[in-house]
Amino acid sequence: MRTIEPTTQAENMLKTILLSFFLLVITCNAAVQDFCVGDLKAPEGPAGYSCKSPADVTVADFVFTGFRAAGNTTNIINAAVSPAFAAQFPGLNGLGLSIARLDLAPGGVVPMHTHPGASELLLVVQGSIVTGFISSANNVYVKKLVKGDIMVFPQGLLHFQINAGGRTAVAFASFSSQNPGLQITDFALFGNTLPSSLVEKTTFLDDAQVKKLKAVLGGSG
Ligand SMILES: *[C@@H]1O[C@H](CO)[C@@H](O)[C@H](O)[C@H]1NC(C)=O
Repeated sequence: MRTIEPTTQAENMLKTILLSFFLLVITCNAAVQDFCVGDLKAPEGPAGYSCKSPADVTVADFVFTGFRAAGNTTNIINAAVSPAFAAQFPGLNGLGLSIARLDLAPGGVVPMHTHPGASELLLVVQGSIVTGFISSANNVYVKKLVKGDIMVFPQGLLHFQINAGGRTAVAFASFSSQNPGLQITDFALFGNTLPSSLVEKTTFLDDAQVKKLKAVLGGSG
């Protein structure tokens, strides 16, 4: 009489477990979540918006038409940044990417800024732009880009764009986050209510310079 050997018993058990697992995967397949279109009525958390009910999702959630017209560059920087982040384009929610249109009138500049949450790719589609970033080691990487050129800006580093020609320049910036964030350094330093004496101490600028910048950039104190 043959007895079932322990190894055969173990093999059989393993086969049963694997079969059950595959069956589970096949049955669960129908429940795979393809997307999580942002429900903009609820607040955005660190992981993005909560999902709109799939029954309410339409193709309009996956299309953004806000880049057809140029942004309004009649402002202090002669530039417009039009974001298509999750808040403007809910279909991006949960996908870890986003895009913005940049219009730079002659003399236009996007002042030194950072995106705390994303790396950026900049593609110039019209005109020419001088752009660059400063590394954590304070090395400068700067280049004049013309139509068709792309530059990448690693996450969190200070960078800027300046129109390098006499006509309007246009570029598109894509980001490795649905919500890259944007902090413009001049506004962070001078467009606030921090008392001027503290701004002077922490920037090594004199009182007149700080007062002037606070007035230009909307700060007080
Ligand atoms: C552009 O912005 C300026 C300043 O806010 C405003 O006066 C002007 O009407 C705007 N132009 C358009 C076309 O919206």
